[in-house]
Amino acid sequence: MNSFDISTKIYFGDNALDRLVEIPYKKVLVITDPFIEKSGMLALVTDRLQQAFIDFEIFSDVVPDPPIEKISIGVKALLDYDPDCVVAIGGGSAIDSTKAIREFATRANGKQIAMIAIPTTSGTGSEVTSFAVVTDVQNNIKYPLVSDSMLPTEAILDAELVKSVPASVTAATGMDVLTHAIEAYVSINNNEFSAALAEKAIEICGTFLLRSYLDNNDTHARKKMHVASCLAGLAFNSASLGLNHGIAHAIGARFHIPHGKANAIVLPYVIEFNSGINKHSKSHKEYPKCVEKYCNVAKLLGVNNFNEITTIRALVGWIQFMSKEMNIPLTMSQCGIEKREYMNAVESMAEKAIADACTATNPRVPSKAEVCLLLEHMYEN
Ligand SMILES: NC(=O)c1ccc[n+]([C@@H]2O[C@H](COP(=O)([O-])OP(=O)(O)OC[C@H]3O[C@@H](n4cnc5c(N)ncnc54)[C@H](O)[C@@H]3O)[C@@H](O)[C@H]2O)c1
Ligand SMILES: [Fe+2]
Repeated sequence: MNSFDISTKIYFGDNALDRLVEIPYKKVLVITDPFIEKSGMLALVTDRLQQAFIDFEIFSDVVPDPPIEKISIGVKALLDYDPDCVVAIGGGSAIDSTKAIREFATRANGKQIAMIAIPTTSGTGSEVTSFAVVTDVQNNIKYPLVSDSMLPTEAILDAELVKSVPASVTAATGMDVLTHAIEAYVSINNNEFSAALAEKAIEICGTFLLRSYLDNNDTHARKKMHVASCLAGLAFNSASLGLNHGIAHAIGARFHIPHGKANAIVLPYVIEFNSGINKHSKSHKEYPKCVEKYCNVAKLLGVNNFNEITTIRALVGWIQFMSKEMNIPLTMSQCGIEKREYMNAVESMAEKAIADACTATNPRVPSKAEVCLLLEHMYEN
């Protein structure tokens, strides 16, 4: 038996932030990062809370790729303040930190509190997922915590907040959206509901990602990408992800490469691996099932070709074209990582990628040796 539900109520469109004036909570802990606090974006939240006479406190100690230590500090802040709602405003790091802080606080005192997630990047979809990615700095491990109890109560998608996102972050987070949608689409847990959401997200990325990268003031493109990020989040919340995210987490934890950028580098290699197109197939029937799905992805992006192999190649070429246009490196060597250091880390990264919860739903079960080979190839191709 299968089921599908969207537990998080989504407010979107112009002035969506005004929802904050109507919320039924009395005491709110606002969680964010120092940049959002200083940028004036936080005031868009706190002004509305003041307008509604809601008491609030601010915890702005979030850092990218949230380490467990910072989450413990946040848990203490939450338990001390004892709010009935937490509001997360920021990128995936702020939203994931808030989910983990709320989860651990609830486990400590048993009190259920509401959560409102307000993304300021169009990338992770974390506002509608039961995933929170945390980092164990000592052991260089980034791992997803997964529990439905972490789902935010409400999400507010107001594209006004993404206007200030720098081009490099638009590029990385946008490729994260595309990777979520593609991995959900080919996941062994995919279903008609997740597929519909993923297809729409892929279609929007094809039309609007480059536009929003090239022109900060293209409000229409930014609004579309903000919705695509959420659609892709809903898709992978149902279907989960795959090896691409498993490898990106391992690389991100070891070499501190932004999550979306790591995904973008890995994506062509994982598509080729899953499709088995580097092997010589004797007949049409020998293509793995996911090849048909990748061909659908290519069709949605307008790059399908006259047979499966050329279509997969066109898809890989399109992804590399997007990365080049958006100044994302194509290989790990282009990220400035020293070869010896990288090669020495390959085996341990492969082990972590295989152990990552996301890898379990990849359409092709990878062996450690295969992941090592993929990691070696993506160093300089
Ligand atoms: N929970 C999930 O389902 C899920 C899915 C994918 C990724 N993630 C995780 O989310 C994290 C990445 O999140 P992210 O890509 O949104 O980046 P991020 O939250 O780390 O933010 C990246 C940078 O952009 C800045 N920023 C955020 N909003 C801005 C704005 N409007 N204007 C200018 N600068 C802004 C931040 O201050 C930060 O310096 C990683 O830890 C990743 O593993 C979680
Ligand atoms: Fe991601």
